[in-house]
Amino acid sequence: MKILLMGKGGQVGWELQRSLAILGQVEAFDSDTPGPAQAPDLRADFRDPDQVAALVRHVRPDVIVNAAAHTAVDKAESEPELARLINATTPGVIAAEAARLNALLVHYSTDYVFDGSGKAPRTEHSPVAPLSVYGQTKLEGELAIQSSTCRHLIFRTSWVYAARGGNFARTMLRLAAERDELKVIDDQIGAPTGADLLADVTAHAVRAVSRQPELGGLYHLVATGETNWHQYASFVIEWARARGQAIRVAPEAVRPIHTSEYPTPARRPLNSRLDTSKIQQAFGLTLPHWQQGVERMLIEITGG
Ligand SMILES: NC(=O)c1ccc[n+]([C@@H]2O[C@H](COP(=O)([O-])OP(=O)(O)OC[C@H]3O[C@@H](n4cnc5c(N)ncnc54)[C@H](OP(=O)(O)O)[C@@H]3O)[C@@H](O)[C@H]2O)c1
Repeated sequence: MKILLMGKGGQVGWELQRSLAILGQVEAFDSDTPGPAQAPDLRADFRDPDQVAALVRHVRPDVIVNAAAHTAVDKAESEPELARLINATTPGVIAAEAARLNALLVHYSTDYVFDGSGKAPRTEHSPVAPLSVYGQTKLEGELAIQSSTCRHLIFRTSWVYAARGGNFARTMLRLAAERDELKVIDDQIGAPTGADLLADVTAHAVRAVSRQPELGGLYHLVATGETNWHQYASFVIEWARARGQAIRVAPEAVRPIHTSEYPTPARRPLNSRLDTSKIQQAFGLTLPHWQQGVERMLIEITGG
């Protein structure tokens, strides 16, 4: 199996380099990675859909995994054209190429396609209503792929973290060591989901779909359980305190605030609960509790 991976240096892309390696030959690109030996000038730069299409035609993969995206949610509000190009237009062009090659396209989307009203977990059939440019352009990306005739897997996920690079937990640990008080939002509910989990499920699903094409489609993929950012921060800080790490802030000085007290350019859904029954049943998977993956990540980033 020949796999073309794009966005290889992102949180999910990095883990995919590991998890996809057992499936076959992986050719992995970031926007500035030189093209293959016979076409070194080609780039997987999503600002240039024609060039990405040419790269796909050149590589002729059996599977395309797109981990590239414009993920700067607040910045997207002031650069909607760029966000649309990267999150929707280019994925649509890749989908057309995948259809021509009869390749399977794997793509990632987000809980931000929903408006976050109410308390119920969203299923794959729930109505979409994005609140932000990021959410809107990610939705347009989903629709472009679904309206092409390519075989595809789209995974909607939420609150992605990885041990590599910056993340929310790392920021909370740093602030907790420096400050006497922290204020963290407590009215956005979701499930922190590890890039490693996403990558492992992707590899499993790619293998399953290559044998049973009818398993293709849209799936919600997040860790089990739910939390809010304040509880998530407290979990991380108390985990570190219990292991004797330098924490200055007292537990009661990690204060909950409402989203309205922390204005950002992009609106975020309050209810990011995603129902994962479909993916667990279709692929025979058990998605672990979010705390399990976060603890592993904490051990990796703190050496604890
Ligand atoms: N992060 C989250 O909390 C979250 C939540 C829900 C869904 N998702 C989705 O999950 C997927 C993976 O996200 P992630 O967290 O791994 O994102 P990430 O860490 O921000 O990585 C995004 C990747 O896209 C690449 N990229 C950006 N602009 C590009 C361009 N013009 N051409 C080519 N590549 C470009 C980046 O490369 P450079 O760094 O070189 O620019 C990077 O490798 C995305 O589809 C995202 O929408 C993420």
